[in-house]
Amino acid sequence: MAVERTLSIIKPGAVAKNLIGKIITRFEEEGLRIIAARMVHLTPEQAGAFYEVHRERPFYAELVKYMTESPIITLVLEGENAIARNRQLMGATDPSKALPGTIRGDFAVSVTRNTVHGSDAPETAATEIAFFFSQADLISAR
Ligand code: CDP
Ligand code: MG
Repeated sequence: MAVERTLSIIKPGAVAKNLIGKIITRFEEEGLRIIAARMVHLTPEQAGAFYEVHRERPFYAELVKYMTESPIITLVLEGENAIARNRQLMGATDPSKALPGTIRGDFAVSVTRNTVHGSDAPETAATEIAFFFSQADLISAR
């Protein structure tokens, strides 16, 4: 296993409901380290670009609207196998299929308003981290 980095986003609904601390606690208790963090209020152009891969999907417009409705927290998590471990903590995309004890299982309200984003592979993690952070923002030497 390799030390990986992954992009996590605490989505607008979760920030609005004061769930930042509860969600970050899950990452920390799992042993993932936060090596960058920033609050951002995305423009429609930024949210649209971030989810470019989904542009032709029927949910794209609703997703962009949701992601821009209020601020998000962007995080870079680091650790052994961080990408898959974060996806496990998140649970299934559709919260009705997410297990209790996962972030989405416990907090998500719908498939669109599903609390968190997490990169799904090393290539997407690198692209998504670079979307929000420069190399100098990543503080992993502790
Ligand atoms: O976020 P994840 O990688 O689990 O799922 P995705 O398939 O990459 O979809 C990205 C995001 O689009 C999801 O997290 C949902 O917020 C949204 N989505 C949606 O609104 N309706 C769907 N049927 C599928 C995804
Ligand atoms: Mg995805």
